[in-house]
Amino acid sequence: MLVVEDIHTYYGESHALQGVSLEVKAGEVVCLLGRNGAGKSTTLKSIMGIVSPRRGRIVFEGEEIQGRPAHWIARHGIALVPEDRRIFAGLTVQENLDVAQARRPPGERRWSLERVFDEFPMLAELRDQDGGTLSGGQQQMLAIARALVTEPRLLLLDEPNEGLAPVIVQQIGALIDRLAETTTILFTDQSVPFALKHASRGYILQKGRVVYQGSIETIRNDPEVQERYLSVA
Ligand SMILES: Nc1ncnc2c1ncn2[C@@H]1O[C@H](COP(=O)(O)OP(=O)(O)OP(=O)(O)O)[C@@H](O)[C@H]1O
Ligand SMILES: [Mg+2]
Repeated sequence: MLVVEDIHTYYGESHALQGVSLEVKAGEVVCLLGRNGAGKSTTLKSIMGIVSPRRGRIVFEGEEIQGRPAHWIARHGIALVPEDRRIFAGLTVQENLDVAQARRPPGERRWSLERVFDEFPMLAELRDQDGGTLSGGQQQMLAIARALVTEPRLLLLDEPNEGLAPVIVQQIGALIDRLAETTTILFTDQSVPFALKHASRGYILQKGRVVYQGSIETIRNDPEVQERYLSVA
């Protein structure tokens, strides 16, 4: 479904991604692991068209998408939930969803607001509350819901569990498991435990390069790899 081939992405002169390649097959849940600054967000932003790789190819559903603008990519089946969530603080939960819905492509509709509120009962209760008043966990749920109403076939989640209480992390994990039945998912994390539960395989990035690919269990059973490339959970 997604093939990233040897991409090089820069911020000015800074060479953030130095030849990243990865693949996500339809129906898979894949995790991109790595420490602070490894290039996880830059990889997702490159796929989403928020930053453009200077070299390399990104092929989504058979079509080259590198260099396309983010709004084009969003309309063609990919959604990103960014690390900082980007909820509109002055808009209500309902309005945040309405704004996102206005951007969805024409065609088959899987995520009506009704279905969203079924999946996220918490958001239904908060629908008239301003985004700025939500807790971190509630904002993360809203950010994921907002991505879903754009009808993605590939969902990119940037550190979806970061800074959240264990009980919320568990809810996010359960949500990923349910979404995985219908949506292909690529998410990032800094350590192994969450990925081990919710992803079928993974990649480790370090300094803008892929240093490992394979099963998450192999990483878990290799303390040296964890110590060298990952954060302690
Ligand atoms: N807007 C930017 N301008 C300049 N350099 C940047 C920018 N964003 C990221 N970088 C640099 O690019 C490299 C990769 O950063 P990136 O944010 O992709 O890492 P990350 O793996 O997502 O880290 P984190 O776990 O902290 O989110 C880092 O060296 C970072 O300092
Ligand atoms: Mg990041």
